[in-house]
Amino acid sequence: MDRIRIVGGNELHGVIPISGAKNAALPLMIASLLTDDTLTLENVPHLADVEQLIRILGNHGADISVNGRRERQGESYARTVHFTSRNIVSTTAPYELVSKMRASFWVIGPLLAREGKARVSLPGGCAIGTRPVDLFIEGLAALGANIEIDGGYVNATAPAGGLIGARYVFPKVSVGATHVLMMAATLANGTTVLGNAAREPEVVDLAKCLNAMGAKISGQGTSTVTIEGVRSLSGARHRVLPDRIETGTYAMAVAMAGGDVILEDTETSLLDTALEAIRRAGAEISETNSGIRIVRNGAGIKPVDIVTDPFPGFPTDLQAQFMGLMTRSSGVSHITETIFENRFMHVQELARLGAKISLSGQTAKVEGVSRLKGAPVMATDLRASVSLVIAGLAAEGETMVSRVYHLDRGFERLEEKLTRCGAHVERVSD
Ligand code: EPZ
Repeated sequence: MDRIRIVGGNELHGVIPISGAKNAALPLMIASLLTDDTLTLENVPHLADVEQLIRILGNHGADISVNGRRERQGESYARTVHFTSRNIVSTTAPYELVSKMRASFWVIGPLLAREGKARVSLPGGCAIGTRPVDLFIEGLAALGANIEIDGGYVNATAPAGGLIGARYVFPKVSVGATHVLMMAATLANGTTVLGNAAREPEVVDLAKCLNAMGAKISGQGTSTVTIEGVRSLSGARHRVLPDRIETGTYAMAVAMAGGDVILEDTETSLLDTALEAIRRAGAEISETNSGIRIVRNGAGIKPVDIVTDPFPGFPTDLQAQFMGLMTRSSGVSHITETIFENRFMHVQELARLGAKISLSGQTAKVEGVSRLKGAPVMATDLRASVSLVIAGLAAEGETMVSRVYHLDRGFERLEEKLTRCGAHVERVSD
């Protein structure tokens, strides 16, 4: 099994190209099931989660072809992928496939809207909390679906004439349930109004793509999204938006290691709150024509308190990385996680590098230390694992991160991107 070896101490200088967002690509790919025409997605990142979803969509009958690689300095990064589901050959998403990635549960929306039925295994995914699916079930039921849970599967059936537009207010903000209800409502009879909807940029990107396919969605990016049902959707061509979590992760890596890096093909507006926290920690951040420049020269890292929240708040998917940064701050910071109840598994691994962190409920108290020392550590989930890489960049000596398959789910060519900026990071195959 591969491991990542980091020798800390080098500053980062250069350019890091930011990939298309994993968390936008996944729902966009799933939206292709809504039409018998071809949906072409540009800027699709090459990640384990994307490959897994390609297998899942294939199981429903999608024909998928990859081409049009964008060459950059002799290497290909983004891909253009064509998805055509002329017919849906199966409305069942089996346990063997869905258990590997939670987002694959989201096929329930398009399958139900287009075929009138879906049988989808209850999901798996990162072990960061219980992550129930009650909001999906309640929301789809509001659109008239009959839903039963049996033997680990959700069996959903639409009324004879199809799903029916309705008003549904989410009792809690959920990115995935907003994606699914929005997709399902595009083909419903009448108008659907979703209250307390997620406002994440990935929701906006999905709505933009669905509208290009002929849907009538308005209000995306606010907490009230309105969807007027249409009879059918067509194909479209859509470019996946930049990955704001990857952007924030590398910004924190530069803030940690020091240096001067341009994060290319990304935008500050996708992560204002996180960038503000990094600025307060002592880095200089500015917008350039090609992306975002981040600089930390000489100045130490200051302690900053953060609380995770749905967009536009501080993203839970950057909480572990920010904690990694705070381990080297010059004081005490508090990091509060409000989205997931079990997203502190990186704490004990960071402690192996010498970090001083104590947990009290949903808040971690991080007492900055003047030095971290490399050690063997274990990746526990996708974002936790990259926080160990960030800490490793500033640790003395060698940090060896095992279980890197977590990293491969969400970070495209991580070691290559960091190495090109001067970091000592390599993949070691046993
Ligand atoms: C998405 O997950 C992201 N995944 C997550 O990123 C991200 O952490 C999360 O949104 C929050 O921003 C993708 O986009 C593929 P939620 P999702 O539904 O949609 C609770 C990563 O590292 N909830 O917004 O699954 C839930 O338990 C991943 O890339 C219910 O209670 O998250 C959580 O506490 C990890 N009932 C909260 O809502 C439900 O039916 C928010 O979850 C659904 C969710």
